[in-house]
Amino acid sequence: MKIALVGATGLVGGVMRKVLEERGFGDCELIPAASARSVGKKVTFAGKVCNVVSVEEAIEHAPKYAIFSAGSGPSLQYAPLFAQKGTVVIDNSSAWRSNPDIPLVVPEINGDVVRPNDYIIANPNCSTIQMVMALAPLHKRYRIKRIVVSTYQSITGTGMKAVNQLAKERAGEPCDMAYPYQIDMNLFPHGGTFEENGYTTEETKLLNETRKILRDNEIRVSATVVRVPVTGGHSESVNVEFYEDFELSEVYDLLNNMPGVVVQDNPAENLYPMPLFAKDKDEVFVGRIRRDFSQPKTLNLWVVADNLRKGAATNAIQIMQMLLKR
Ligand code: A2P
Repeated sequence: MKIALVGATGLVGGVMRKVLEERGFGDCELIPAASARSVGKKVTFAGKVCNVVSVEEAIEHAPKYAIFSAGSGPSLQYAPLFAQKGTVVIDNSSAWRSNPDIPLVVPEINGDVVRPNDYIIANPNCSTIQMVMALAPLHKRYRIKRIVVSTYQSITGTGMKAVNQLAKERAGEPCDMAYPYQIDMNLFPHGGTFEENGYTTEETKLLNETRKILRDNEIRVSATVVRVPVTGGHSESVNVEFYEDFELSEVYDLLNNMPGVVVQDNPAENLYPMPLFAKDKDEVFVGRIRRDFSQPKTLNLWVVADNLRKGAATNAIQIMQMLLKR
């Protein structure tokens, strides 16, 4: 089986190669593609050295799947061309997510929305994936009315340039800036770009994508996205109000029974999710589970996941695995 990886030289592209190997795709023919700057470079996959090709050349191979993590521009330009060749595209950018004809998928939650004739499938935003993984079983049981979420997002979500910026700042060396400010010893309430209504694109994604994945357009979401000098994963403080009241013991049961979710919650032993624990793991970790005493039917959660894994590569490859099983 041929699999094209568009953005193969990037940060997520590297994790994609690793997750493909781990999940038994080492025998597949990988077609790594990137921008014109990288054509002819080498990447390794399953112990083999592969040449990076142009996206145009990758399309000519008519692979069974093309997994994209190269930003919205290349996705808009090339995904339809792959689809014309009969390749199924799984796209990690925001290019197609809000398109009503394109499924936006977290396999554990709404894999059933993918139809046999879907050739472009969108992988949700990293912050959305981990939040809906924790909230989906609770929404099913108590129905969500409103979410107030603040994120503490890893610099790895911005890509290689941001990782270099932090490393250089820590080494006291000059660097190309991925962000408008120093990120080492700092944080800023700014992810994506500002929109006219005062929110950033990353904040708006948390609203629109949550509604689409949980199939409920009445859910209200108020989000603040914060970038922090952390590399292991994204953390989220989630305050969620339901229509129905809950028992905490049942909340624990629902979370414990959700595939892909791990409850890490023992205050007596200082056990709670952290990027340090979540790094390189495929699961979403949930802790600090407690009732919000300031109003009824409201819960507080702390949710952490490796944004390059479940937030990106793992979820995309799980979508491919789900399709292969059909
Ligand atoms: P390249 O390495 O040639 O720039 P990151 O998010 O870590 O910065 O990675 C982005 C990935 O997307 C890289 O593999 C990058 O390739 C790729 N990429 C960026 N622009 C394009 C493009 N126009 N066409 C194909 N791949 C692209």
